[in-house]
Amino acid sequence: MEEKIRQLTQACSEEISAAGSENALYAVRVKYLGKNGLISDLMKGMKDLTPQQRPVMGKLVNDARSALETEFTEKGNQLHEAELAQKLAAEKIDITINKGRSVGKLHPLNAVRKRLVDFFVSMGFEVMDGPEVETDYYNFEALNVPKDHPARDMQDTFFLGGNLLLRSQTSASQVRYMEDHKPPLKMISPGRVFRNDDDATHSPVFHQLEGLVVDKGITMCDLKGILDSFAKHFFGSDTKVRFRPSYFPFTEPSVEVDVSCSMCHGKGCKICKGTGWIEILGAGIVNRKVLKICGIDPDEYTGFAFGFGIDRIANIIHSIPHIKLLYENDIRFLEQF
Ligand code: PHE
Repeated sequence: MEEKIRQLTQACSEEISAAGSENALYAVRVKYLGKNGLISDLMKGMKDLTPQQRPVMGKLVNDARSALETEFTEKGNQLHEAELAQKLAAEKIDITINKGRSVGKLHPLNAVRKRLVDFFVSMGFEVMDGPEVETDYYNFEALNVPKDHPARDMQDTFFLGGNLLLRSQTSASQVRYMEDHKPPLKMISPGRVFRNDDDATHSPVFHQLEGLVVDKGITMCDLKGILDSFAKHFFGSDTKVRFRPSYFPFTEPSVEVDVSCSMCHGKGCKICKGTGWIEILGAGIVNRKVLKICGIDPDEYTGFAFGFGIDRIANIIHSIPHIKLLYENDIRFLEQF
């Protein structure tokens, strides 16, 4: 067995030296050190040894394994650097080249934002943006999220000190709008918002479009009607909309809104994670307390509000897998639109 360990270690060392790429090295690693690899197989032979031999052999195998691990790491670093250098050399962009007739166009995010705004404007909505640095009052308190309320955790907010923060939702602009306008109101607030959140579908900076309608006799049916037209316009005329009960402090009742998946038409696919539905927005009937805070009589008027991420809509429309692609401005990505 000792001889076998020596032979395997030597063979593995030779294959490590010969590996010409990170992928090839990985294959060698799996062959020898993988769960069912040749070195791991040796351990399985232990049961045939005497109790005295076992610890001795165990140590030999483990020593061989850790020596090989070191070799793998060193070779891996070498290959990684070589591959990186090669990639940098190959992908160099010559900024002096005059490409002639290349024509500029809107960034996909701006293009989608423009289409969304156009859609709501065509339905009679007014557009308003507000400050990105907001006060606690407009971002939270006026929206029925008092200080120390657990609902603040729903939006990982960047607090700036004092009473200031980076707005975590454009609902803040809606409060400003309600203060300055008398119902009937019909407005959208598209804009940049900020949350301490970072993964494939979340970015610390993203874009929201929130809508607000306040008038006499507004109900959930009006909300559903608008969202139905919206979904059909952007995701196809056979798109269905469904409401699921949810919670937001500024709406009561609140709903989470899903659209049927436009890729598989509800059958279930990778995009909708097999469910047939894609969650796109939050909405609800404006909480009476919010209307009152903004100087609107909740016994006379009711309203609905909804809010979604423009980035998310752009990603769904264009099947973009990672939100960061929208912000890196890699020309190879942007050219595809
Ligand atoms: N402001 C909410 C958010 O950012 C979305 C929302 C808007 C929910 C309006 C309900 C009504 O999560």
